[in-house]
Amino acid sequence: MAQEGGIDIVRDAFRYQNRFSGSKMVIKVDFPVTEDAGFSYLIKDLALVVKSGVKVVVVPGCAEWIDAALLSQNIVCRYAGTERITTQAALPFVEMAAFQAATRFITGLSGSRVDALIGNFVRARACGVIGGVDMLHTGEVDKIFAASLGRVLDFGMVPILPCIGWSPSGKPYNVSSDEIALAVSQSLGAVKLIIVSAGQFLPALEAGGFSIPEFIERGEDGRIIRLRPHEAETLLTLSHYKKFDVERPKWISQLELALRAAESGIERIHIIDGQEEGALLREIFTNLGSGTMIYADEQDLIRPMRSSEVPDVLHLMEPYVRRDILVRRSVDDIQEKKDDYVVLAIDDSIRACGALHDWGEGAAEIAALASDPAFTEMGLGRRIVDYLLTKARKAGFKRAFVLTTRTQDWFEAYGFAETPIDSLPARKRALYNPERKSKAYALDLF
Ligand SMILES: CC(C)(COP(=O)(O)OP(=O)(O)OC[C@H]1O[C@@H](n2cnc3c(N)ncnc32)[C@H](O)[C@@H]1OP(=O)(O)O)[C@@H](O)C(=O)NCCC(=O)NCCS
Repeated sequence: MAQEGGIDIVRDAFRYQNRFSGSKMVIKVDFPVTEDAGFSYLIKDLALVVKSGVKVVVVPGCAEWIDAALLSQNIVCRYAGTERITTQAALPFVEMAAFQAATRFITGLSGSRVDALIGNFVRARACGVIGGVDMLHTGEVDKIFAASLGRVLDFGMVPILPCIGWSPSGKPYNVSSDEIALAVSQSLGAVKLIIVSAGQFLPALEAGGFSIPEFIERGEDGRIIRLRPHEAETLLTLSHYKKFDVERPKWISQLELALRAAESGIERIHIIDGQEEGALLREIFTNLGSGTMIYADEQDLIRPMRSSEVPDVLHLMEPYVRRDILVRRSVDDIQEKKDDYVVLAIDDSIRACGALHDWGEGAAEIAALASDPAFTEMGLGRRIVDYLLTKARKAGFKRAFVLTTRTQDWFEAYGFAETPIDSLPARKRALYNPERKSKAYALDLF
């Protein structure tokens, strides 16, 4: 928990390191992160990630490098939608720019004593003629040589994939780095695709008057910490940008890439700010991360508490017990009613809990509700109560009630209304502690 200082951050870091060691991650770095003064820090962090045992593939975004190279040669390329039509004249400069971008990583990682190599791991084929437009030397991914990539990764090396692919006869094609990042993530079974963007996702989103719908939850710092695919889709729809609009802001293509990756089975896609120092380490090794995670899996599950989790639940309640907001409970108190408790776990850490106690007379009490102070106002408390109320309805209870000293407004906002203590079931009334002066709030279930 944030209030308890750095030790929980250290615990998180070890836990994540343990979990991700040996797994594969693809990191797509958008321009102009590679040109930023902070790039050397990003490289150092990347090196630490590799040294912690994560197998990393880097895909540098090359579009702006190519634009600059072509401009210097006065070569003008047309576009089909957002796709550059790479002409014969442009191709050598496209290759040059792609390798230049990749070399920036080789140079940086050499300084951090991490072995890296630029390789021909992408087999490409011509995009051909699309809608009557010949795409010339613009290609698409035909195949990723995953076995070769795997061998390189097993040696602890970092493969860098420029935005070029080669046909079986050795013909080069300009392939979008987004497509490469997506295909590599899929064929390697990467646990994460990390999109390193220039700048923060949220301000980019809000620029130009785009307002984020209320139902999209934000962290204490206003950041969109996690997005489900359908929410990402809503943002894209609300943005009104067309799929092939060249003028569309970068966050649209980043979100589109993230969504496609999520749909293709990559469990977690992260968009982080490459100009923020330590963003990569925080995103991988801490629970709250630094950027925005798009996730397809049900990783924050509410489920019945396990016996082994009683100490975690007590730990979660402790700050509220100390402030006399919650009643102190012992291990035995909780064990005795263990089946009443539910927890909400994020990445195997318990971040919220609650219990539903049966007092007879068709009434159930919602109790021991607590959410981790570092994770408040993210809807976790509401989700626990939703879950408990559903459970109560399914069990046939007619009424849910809660005793509270400090949270009456929260329950009122939920629809609970104050009720006299006399209206509580007799068994609960017998145990009521008049000194605490708790108020009772109830909700009829139907
Ligand atoms: C009450 C509690 C569970 C809410 O958890 P949470 O995960 O932050 O809940 P949500 O994210 O669903 O709700 C956050 C909203 O509730 C509001 N809120 C939080 N605590 C509140 C309180 N004591 N009174 C009124 N509103 C409160 C927040 O301001 C926020 O409002 P917003 O959505 O308008 O921004 C949490 O603050 C907690 O653990 N409190 C201590 C234990 C407790 O009081 N338990 C209840 C008795 S069993």
